Parts: sequence; structure tokens; C-alpha cells
Amino acid sequence: MGRTALAASLEQAHEQAHAHDAEPAPQAAPPGPPADPVAVAMELLSPQGRIDPYPLYATAHRIGPVAGIGGGWFVVAGYDAVNQVLRSTGYGVTGAQISQERRDEHAALALLAPSILESDPPRHTAMRSLIGSVFTPRRIAALEPMIRAAVDELLDGLAESGADGQPVDFMAEFAFRLPVTVICEMLGVPVTDRQRFRRLAAGLTTALEFMTDHSQLAPADAAAVELAAFFGDLIAERRDDSGDAPSDRSDLVGALTAARDADDGRLSEAELLANLTLLLVAGFETTTDLLGNGLQLLFDHPEAARRLRAAGGGQDDVAAFVDEVLRCESPVQVTSRVALAEGLELAGVPIPAGSRLILLIGAANRDPARFPDPDRFDPARPANKPLSFGVGAHVCLGNGLARLEAAVAFPRLLARFPRLAPAGTAPTRRDRVVLRGYETLPVRLTAPPA
Ligand code: HEM
Repeated sequence: MGRTALAASLEQAHEQAHAHDAEPAPQAAPPGPPADPVAVAMELLSPQGRIDPYPLYATAHRIGPVAGIGGGWFVVAGYDAVNQVLRSTGYGVTGAQISQERRDEHAALALLAPSILESDPPRHTAMRSLIGSVFTPRRIAALEPMIRAAVDELLDGLAESGADGQPVDFMAEFAFRLPVTVICEMLGVPVTDRQRFRRLAAGLTTALEFMTDHSQLAPADAAAVELAAFFGDLIAERRDDSGDAPSDRSDLVGALTAARDADDGRLSEAELLANLTLLLVAGFETTTDLLGNGLQLLFDHPEAARRLRAAGGGQDDVAAFVDEVLRCESPVQVTSRVALAEGLELAGVPIPAGSRLILLIGAANRDPARFPDPDRFDPARPANKPLSFGVGAHVCLGNGLARLEAAVAFPRLLARFPRLAPAGTAPTRRDRVVLRGYETLPVRLTAPPA
């Protein structure tokens, strides 16, 4: 998916729509958010739109659940419409459409293209069942004691860094470290490499950004080369290990390498590398954002923090809180699909084959037709089913893991630091369209010294 194609198409549509703007307008346009879908899409890409897309989503809902923006592109904001596209076999992932030429030019595209996230059936179905067979709910549930220990160790570290009311960055010291520790454990990757992974994941995931301009893929390409070499070495080590104790196969690198080596067509070498890399990067940037977004929402809604503390980690309350964080501040705001079949229709709008759809997950989660008073943060919302993990064939493989990490982390964090508060320095956001989260979130664990 190239920004270049979309940006060019948007600019053209915008020019056509405003061709008569050169004539003096009888009256100045009323202030407020733009009301045409092309302008909304363009604003979403602007720096302000990236910081606060929610007024633009509200405008998109007023325009309608599905809107054509020219050049074969559609913006889909309605909950039912996004849900329908993600569940339908009439649409495919846009990554599968990336040309061989582009893959040859960019190591990041070449590395990720064979992964499940970027594949349609039949490869998607085969890989998903294989990876699903090792990434099981049972394996995830068995990680809970390890997650609890990792959380407590990180809280000890936070306590040390934030002693005497010193400000400490929750993102660097906790939100990033927990998911990377957990996914490294699952993959069987040395956690000592985690600082390097943070840099590499931040680099590589720019290739998953919806609006990535191919000319700006240099950091993603550099990260891809380093990650491919890293996993290549790890896979080779497993193969060289002639002793091959069963425990070597119990982590994901071991299990997937064994599946590849069975050589029964279930997984090619490129798919092995692509999926291991995807599991690493998909596994922590997003969960890091869930933890950061959740803490900021707790700061903004002290009554929710009080309720969570009073609940003392009651499973239902924590799960409801996590769902509402996911709904209000979805770590993944946007995904995309391409129409593969003829004769498709969405909310009454005909979708010709070959059309590209921008699916605004963040907007669907605030669709007033699905969620009454959608901008209100309310963990008690009944039947809260945000689309933050996607749905259908590509539904997030790690959703149980991400939920478990958050469900363990928040109650322990609140219990350990009853006076946890913002440090007074404003948090900074990462400048992304797809992944929504904080770069820094300074906090104080105790009152500052008098
Ligand atoms: C809060 C955390 C997370 C969020 C919000 C999230 C979100 C998503 C979304 C929206 C998709 C579907 C994309 C689409 O259909 O276009 C997805 C897919 C995926 N996620 Fe996650 N994710 C999270 C955590 C994780 C974790 C912890 C892992 C693994 C350890 C993971 C692994 C994957 C994989 C492998 C896919 C591709 C599935 C497929 O294509 O069949 N994710 N995720």
C-alpha cells in the first residue's frame, strides 16, 4: 500500500472538488471540521489529524458509513461496515497486492510480504492453522505466572528509578519492557536484545503504516535486514543443535522451524522468517500502546482508577476496563483491504472489484450508531465489542496474550503505587497514523519531595 498512490488520488479529488474555489466565495466558509470525505481523509494524514483524529471520525460518521474519495478508494468508518468487510471473503489484504518489483526494491516489504498478515487464502489459511496450533490459548494461559513475575520485577525497577518522587517514563521503563519480555520468552529469543528490538520494531513497523511513502522506507529496510539476519542465525542455531532436546521445540522459533523442516509444504523458508519477525514486532508495539493509552485514560478518569483499585483485580472489572481502553484509544487505528470480487456492496454503496478500502477501526469503535455517547470513557458499557483486534480470518492471533498482559499489569501497578500520577511534563505521542500510542509518558510514583 503506497501513500504515493493514495496521496496523489486524494490531491486530485480535492482539486476537482474545489476547482471553483478560486472564484470569490459569497461568504467565508463556516469554521469547524471539513465535511467532505476527501478533506477528512487528507486531514487524517495531517499532523493535527494524527494527534487527534476523533473530531474527524465524528465528521466521517455524519457523512456516512462508507464514502468514495476518488481513484477507486473508499473510506469506511461505520462499525457494521468495517465488521462486514473484515469478515467477508470478497476482500483481500492489501499487502498481498504489493508488486514483486516493490519487494525487490525494499527489504522490509520483501521480509513481511510472505507473513500471515500480508497473505490471502490459500497461503493464509495454511499458515494460520499452523501458527495457531503452536500459539494456543493453553500456551498463553500457561504464561500467566511468568507475566506476573515480569510485571513485579518491572515494578521494582520503576520504584527504583522513581524513588523520592523523581519523574520516570512509564513507556520506556514499563510499557515497552513488559510485552518485549513476554514475546521474547514465547519465541525463545534472548531478552538481553530487547533495547535493540525496540529500535528495530519501531523501524520495521513504519512499513506497516498505512500511509507509508515508499521513498521513506529506509529505516524499515535497515531494520528488516538486521531482523532477517538475527532470526536467520537463530534458526540456523536450532538446526545445528544436533542434540535437539524437546525443550528446543517448545518455543515458537523451535516449533515453527520444526514445522518448516518437516518440508510438507506447510511453511516455506521465507514464510518462517516473515512470521517470526511479525510475531516479534506485532507482539509488542501494539501492547506497549495498550498499556500507555490505558494508563493515560486512568489519569484522565480517576473514578475508573478508584473502581479498579476497589475491585482489587477482579477479573470481570479488569477485562471490562481493558475493552473500553481498546475501544476508546485503539492501538491499531486503521487497516485496509482490497475488493477481490465483482458486485460487492457496502452500506448500499457499490464497491467495484479492485477498489481499496481504508478501514477506520478507531472510528468504528466510536460509531454513535453502535456505541451510545461514543466519546465517553465508560468501562461499564454493556456488550462492548470494539474492533481493535480486527475480526474474521485475520483476527489478531495475539489478542489473548495482549489482554492477559494488560489484565495482570494494571491492577498490580495501581496496587503497588497508590499515589501514581502524571509527572507534570506533558506526554508525547508517536507520530503515526496506524499505531496510536505514546512515545513518552512521564509519571510520579510518590509525591515529589517538599
Ligand atoms: C493490544 C495489542 C494488539 C492489538 C491492538 C493488535 C491488533 C491487531 C489487528 C487489528 C490485527 C488484524 C489486522 C487486519 O485484519 O488487517 C492483528 C493481527 C495480528 N496480530 Fe495483533 N494486536 C495486538 C497484539 C498482538 C500480539 C501480542 C501478537 C503476538 C504475540 C499479535 C500478533 C498478530 C498477528 C500474528 C496478526 C496477524 C493475524 C493474521 O493475519 O491472520 N498481536 N493484530
